[in-house]
Amino acid sequence: MKIITSAAELKAILANERAGKRVGFLPTMGALHEGHLTLARRAVSENDIAVVSVFVNPTQFNNKTDLETYPRDVERDARLLESVGVKYVFTPIAEEFYTKEEMEQRFQFDFGGLDQVMEGKFRPGHFNGVVQVVSKLFQIVEPERAYFGEKDFQQLAIIRRMVEVMKFNIEIIGCPIVREASGLALSSRNALLTDEQRKIATNIHAVLAESATFYSQTTVGELHDSVIAAINRHEGLDVEYFDIVDGRTLKSIDSWNASEDIVGCITVYCGKVRLIDNIRYK
Ligand code: PAJ
Repeated sequence: MKIITSAAELKAILANERAGKRVGFLPTMGALHEGHLTLARRAVSENDIAVVSVFVNPTQFNNKTDLETYPRDVERDARLLESVGVKYVFTPIAEEFYTKEEMEQRFQFDFGGLDQVMEGKFRPGHFNGVVQVVSKLFQIVEPERAYFGEKDFQQLAIIRRMVEVMKFNIEIIGCPIVREASGLALSSRNALLTDEQRKIATNIHAVLAESATFYSQTTVGELHDSVIAAINRHEGLDVEYFDIVDGRTLKSIDSWNASEDIVGCITVYCGKVRLIDNIRYK
């Protein structure tokens, strides 16, 4: 395995090596856990060359403290990626990766409304930064396939749109959420939780999973309100939003018959730590 910080060097190495081979790419912000590693194993097993980027992208953080406290340990990440067979780890340096203008000006993209809801509403500019970094990474790596987790459900929908609008010839593979045995969705931010908070946070998935067992017997509005109430009942948890949406358009639905693809997306503060999760109803 090789760690590369220069985009030009990575491009040159891949150009030299890729004839007749498939490149699988997994973009990450590091602080890797079993969720990332599950995706990395797929990138390794389904392609000839697996490339993983580890880059805490400053342009997608709308909160300076969140950017500063984001856990970082590139050496540990590199060791883990080597252990699952990743060939190249790309860890660019922000000042080299972006021009001054790119760092300062919000990246423009026609989201077709996908950025107006949920994470987009609560983190203005976040997805501009995500599309900016992922499109730039795609242009450097030019993978045949790229891997994204369903944990970031809205991100996956936006990346699929980006590939369509920007005409990337890349297959986007959506991967199921990897959870702890407790049900808590694995997240780099879990490292910021105390042991006590980690226990409390398991209620997020517990409530969502239970709601999926009886959703059809209640209205969308009632289910929505009961999920929020059941989570907020736990001291230390505070729901920011819970939206029950069409999985493709991300528009809220008001009846279970409105779509064949219905997902509930949630963000919950556990103390100061912002956790996201989702559940499929249909
Ligand atoms: P990051 O949060 O590091 O996540 C990298 C990828 O791993 C994302 O596609 C995310 O959905 C996936 N992932 C994280 N936890 C997961 C879990 N428990 N189960 C399944 N997949 C999981 O998402 C980002 O980074 C950034 O926005 C990025 C796309 C790298 C752009 O900077």
